[in-house]
Amino acid sequence: MGKLIVKNIGMLATPEGKTARRGAKQGEIRVLKDAYVVIEDGVIAKVGTGEPEETDAQVIDARGRLVTPGLVDAHTHLIFGGWRQNELGLKLHGATYLDILAMGGGILSTVNATRTATEDELVEKAREALDEMLSLGVTTVEAKSGYGLDMDNELKQLRAIRRLNESHPIDLVSTFLGAHAVPKEYKEDREAYIRLLCEEVIPAVAQAKLAEFCDVFCETGVFSAEESKTILEAGKKWGLIPKIHADEIDPIGGSQLTSEVGAVSAEHLIVCPPAGIDAMAKAGTVACLLPATSFYLGSTFAPARDMIDAGVPVAMASDFNPGSCPSLNLQFVMNLGCLRYRLTPEEVLTAVTLNGAAAINRADRLGSLEPGKQGDLVIWNAEDLNYICYRMGSNLVDTVVKNGQKIS
Ligand code: NIG
Ligand code: FE
Repeated sequence: MGKLIVKNIGMLATPEGKTARRGAKQGEIRVLKDAYVVIEDGVIAKVGTGEPEETDAQVIDARGRLVTPGLVDAHTHLIFGGWRQNELGLKLHGATYLDILAMGGGILSTVNATRTATEDELVEKAREALDEMLSLGVTTVEAKSGYGLDMDNELKQLRAIRRLNESHPIDLVSTFLGAHAVPKEYKEDREAYIRLLCEEVIPAVAQAKLAEFCDVFCETGVFSAEESKTILEAGKKWGLIPKIHADEIDPIGGSQLTSEVGAVSAEHLIVCPPAGIDAMAKAGTVACLLPATSFYLGSTFAPARDMIDAGVPVAMASDFNPGSCPSLNLQFVMNLGCLRYRLTPEEVLTAVTLNGAAAINRADRLGSLEPGKQGDLVIWNAEDLNYICYRMGSNLVDTVVKNGQKIS
């Protein structure tokens, strides 16, 4: 693979460490002026200042620009058939997200479109999204199933993720979300669906090694906290690490469940109560916040500052999906992190790099520019970190380096 040097970096900004950063440490990052990074065989070998000594390497001149770690998008629903632009009119006439779901639309209409699509079609559609993410500075993506809601179609989605991981420069991390909704054929017997998940689908997913994590949508009209616990415990028995969509619309106990099941992350947390924050702090759970979804739903924003003050590590991700967030732009998420959560640019950087990596159990190898970490970085059309949080609506990426290879 060889050696790559990125030199003449005006500002290198990175969190440090191999674990999530919490409390005041979330905002303490390393900043170097006139810096360089040496990447050997895809792994960072050296970070320094001034002129690098190394020779025999491919050189990229950063021309005095900002360099950060590659962005980690730790929460997406990447694989789906169709789109849902028809819901825009319904929303403009006053229907809420849960109203549309209760009418058989929402997630359930994407389930129909995903079941109809072939695996190849799902792969090609998601590949386009991944290309766009990469151009926006994202180098690792978590992707969930959850639009199949039966054995064959959940496995089809997860196989699509595996194929993309093998064929696209972005690294993908896979999460089983069979508990994303109760499919229409089980509407009258939700317990039978939960049994199907726990006794048949989860074992099949685990045996085929198609997912690392198990997620549930713990929400009014979807899965209760008790049902969520049952499903996550079944996942754990098969080695799937728990994640929870919690407190997105109603606080029905999802965030409190984190300490009971030992969740690596809890997602959304828009209406997270203090007891949920305490539980996450106790469990060391990463709060994976999705501000573009709050923006798109027109809802309030998660209490990010309270979480940081309580010592909960905060990550931020896109939640890219065809319903509640049809955007995959993590740069927009960074803008919202500052403007709506009132986080500092330093806290925001940590949220979309190291803490995002921690939300998918990758903080030991991703999310910072330090020797031993994967050679994933972004050169920005910016001279400092403030600039990329302050500008909005433009793609500020100059160059992406993935695994030590210049991508664009
Ligand atoms: O994270 N909340 C549940 N799942 C997605 C939305 C999926 C959809 O609407 O299709 C979310 O917001
Ligand atoms: Fe989600």
